[in-house]
Amino acid sequence: MNILLLGSGGREHALAWKMAQSPSCSKLFIAPGNAGTPAYGENVNLSVSDFEGIKAFCISNKIDLLLPGSEEPLVKGVFDFFANDPALQHIPVIGPSQSGARLEGSKAFAKEFMLRHNIPTAAYREFSDANFEEGLAYISAHALPIVLKADGLALGKGVVIAATHEEALTEYREMIKSAKFGEASRKVVVEQFLTGIEMSAFALSDGKNYVLLPSAKDYKRIGEGDTGLNTGGMGAISPVPFADAAFMAKVEEQVVRPTVKGLAAEGIVYHGFIFFGLIMVGNDPFVIEYNCRMGDPETEVVMPRLQNDLLELFAAMKGQQLDQITVTEDPRAASTIMLVSGGYPEAYEKGKEITGIPAPTADQIVFHAGTKADGGKVLTNGGRVLAITSLASDLQQALAHSKATADSISFGGKYYRRDIGYEFS
Ligand code: AMP
Ligand code: GLY
Repeated sequence: MNILLLGSGGREHALAWKMAQSPSCSKLFIAPGNAGTPAYGENVNLSVSDFEGIKAFCISNKIDLLLPGSEEPLVKGVFDFFANDPALQHIPVIGPSQSGARLEGSKAFAKEFMLRHNIPTAAYREFSDANFEEGLAYISAHALPIVLKADGLALGKGVVIAATHEEALTEYREMIKSAKFGEASRKVVVEQFLTGIEMSAFALSDGKNYVLLPSAKDYKRIGEGDTGLNTGGMGAISPVPFADAAFMAKVEEQVVRPTVKGLAAEGIVYHGFIFFGLIMVGNDPFVIEYNCRMGDPETEVVMPRLQNDLLELFAAMKGQQLDQITVTEDPRAASTIMLVSGGYPEAYEKGKEITGIPAPTADQIVFHAGTKADGGKVLTNGGRVLAITSLASDLQQALAHSKATADSISFGGKYYRRDIGYEFS
């Protein structure tokens, strides 16, 4: 089977590493890839949203499967582009139709969907220019803190948690009246703040059945103790210590199953990963957000713990036979620690030489997140640079191993959080 994987981050490196282990993998291409991905396939100089370029490449290289790593091509309709083109129809795309990708692409759509299918989520209202004044009154009477979310994709910056009514009203005005996040904030979801611990659950759905993948917890803030600005993710662990069998049974019953059934009932085509951003309130799961792809850096701990052949899962998905699959998880704990460029998530420099990246072993692999090859050198090429994943019999040992390697890798401006997994130590 020839595969084209779209993306260039740590998630895509981990997916490439996983798929390359499958006996069904003949040729793997990664577009555009990074300095780590050529260990498992061939990098291709194509942008993830250049659908015509992707089409030409798929035809001339006899691609049998397309795996978009990020939401961008899915939200832009890559699934439908393939499904509607006679030259591409035979190629399965792992991901939802454009209609299904609204679970991630529109917060208002996701909230309405959850309401329709009785899926637990924070109470909310939706506002735009049309009911702007009503929103002012709603916010002024709302309990604190207040969560405001731009409806559309805003590079992970569209969520504001306001501690005061003044702050919430200012944000609200800026989002709707001054288009703070462009088109994305023409509509705003105002919702109740939930208190609890967060985690991520992942399903692969074939439109009728699903399998659950290992759960994970990511660490989004730049600073230790979960302080400072939000990032694309500073580390992750799997499994999640508090997500025991009883809690995961609730997640399946109250969240996963009604989501898969709800999509089918509404005629929304969805054959791919569903990422459930959850918060545990008391002992119950609530959905904070949906994503229509795997998480990053969660994939860097989920894939190493998934013992099934990923391409077998995709084949079962294509045949709508995921009900015949049993997922097996590596009993070991996994941790990943992200090395980032100094200054990230604000301005940072690129092009610093990286040294000391160890070769993969049975219990550790360094996934590249933002790197590029330059002759024989590896240079930094993004805010998030490397994800150091370790596996061990317990989480503390996995974290200690990731930290030791984090210290032994060098590049100018290197920073990382030393407290990933701190709640569980
Ligand atoms: P999102 O961009 O939807 O992932 O939201 C970013 C972060 O905001 C989440 O990971 C949560 O930490 C926080 N958040 C979003 N919605 C809520 C909520 N209703 N209550 C508490 N925290 C929230
Ligand atoms: N780790 C969160 C995300 O991938 O959106």
